[in-house]
Amino acid sequence: MLNNKNILLIISGGIAAYKSLELIRGLRKERANVRCILTKNGEKFVTPMSLAALSEHKVYTDLWSLKDEREMGHIRLSREADLIVIAPASANLIAKMAHGLADDLASTCLLASDKPIMIAPAMNPMMWNHPATQNNMKILLQRDIIQIEPKSGEMACGETGIGRMSEPDDILSSIKDFFSEKPLKNMKAIVTSGPTYEAIDPVRFLGNRSSGKQGHAIATALIQAGAHVHYITGPTHLPHPKGATIIEIESAEEMLAHVEKNLPADLFIGAAAVCDWTVETDHLQKIKKKDNLTPPQLNLKENPDILKKVSLSSKRPQLVIGFAAETENLNNNAKDKLKHKNCDWIVGNEISPEQNVFGNSENQVCLFQYTEDRKEIIQTDLPRMTKIKIAQKLVNEIIHYFETIQKDNRNECTNPSLNVVPYGSQ
Ligand code: C5P
Repeated sequence: MLNNKNILLIISGGIAAYKSLELIRGLRKERANVRCILTKNGEKFVTPMSLAALSEHKVYTDLWSLKDEREMGHIRLSREADLIVIAPASANLIAKMAHGLADDLASTCLLASDKPIMIAPAMNPMMWNHPATQNNMKILLQRDIIQIEPKSGEMACGETGIGRMSEPDDILSSIKDFFSEKPLKNMKAIVTSGPTYEAIDPVRFLGNRSSGKQGHAIATALIQAGAHVHYITGPTHLPHPKGATIIEIESAEEMLAHVEKNLPADLFIGAAAVCDWTVETDHLQKIKKKDNLTPPQLNLKENPDILKKVSLSSKRPQLVIGFAAETENLNNNAKDKLKHKNCDWIVGNEISPEQNVFGNSENQVCLFQYTEDRKEIIQTDLPRMTKIKIAQKLVNEIIHYFETIQKDNRNECTNPSLNVVPYGSQ
């Protein structure tokens, strides 16, 4: 997979630098070409000699060495790379990158580069958790730098916490993942997730028990397959999926507005547990409990059905997938939903108390799919498994769907320029 890929490996100062030797071995085994830049502080932990022996190339250390510049200047070093990997990335180098400093070979190469960058931070937990480092990381993530999360554990300095560099094998897997085929590249997906909250007054709301875990896992699996994901989520306790465009909402009305704003798209997945009803309320202040008075009456009105609206929209995505969370009669209810909501697939999800699905990391689902002529429904039952595995299976099915229609288009179409182009690539 990495055959002839050019990796520029930057090694900055930190005890984890010794792990970069193992990383180089792994990269060479996969037949990648590795060029190394070692910072002055990095040289305190590993020698240019060991890096040169393992990478089978000269190691670059100095911005001002005329010989280096003549042989391969810093501009060429970064231009020839397919990927720049910084492992370990010290707090200092992260700060320099975030603020555009270029005072040595490593930071100058990074500033003079438009290549994708992957960083594996490694530092003391205090340094990692310091607001300065966290802010710097935020800046880098906004620039689409790929972060290989530091791990938790005992540090060389004796302290415990988050800051250990990922193991070389994990870094190698991330590099392989970066170069792997992305079957949903250029596709735009909208995923709704989590519950909606319907306000009763400024303090209270109607809600439901959705944790958002299944929608989160689906968004993550779509991102891994290369899709641009617009993730519209109700309130949850989860960190947001990395790499998605995040839109936080509370009510179903807000969710609908953002879904419509984000159309057109190639794919819509309605994994959110949208409240079916909202409260007719004009309470701008908290409703007060008054002694001897009957409790207030809540007048409910129906919420818009987002899934149905998307299915019937003039900007309808090519593939529209909904969920049916049912405590009974799952099969019939799911099939009914497929018909009434006019979507293409329904993921049926039994949520009876015995299934213990809410907040759990496991789930049990069946997939209901219309045949191409929409005359029949195919049902596929999946065994109980983690929500992450279910998301991966669903995304594989989605990949298969888009590959099939692209193949059909190619067969039907003698003029290749008339083939369907994914919306996201336009
Ligand atoms: O009608 P029901 O809530 O059972 O349908 C579930 C499916 O419809 C889910 O995919 C959910 O995200 C979607 N839905 C919606 N808008 C609503 C209610 C449900 O998009 N108001």
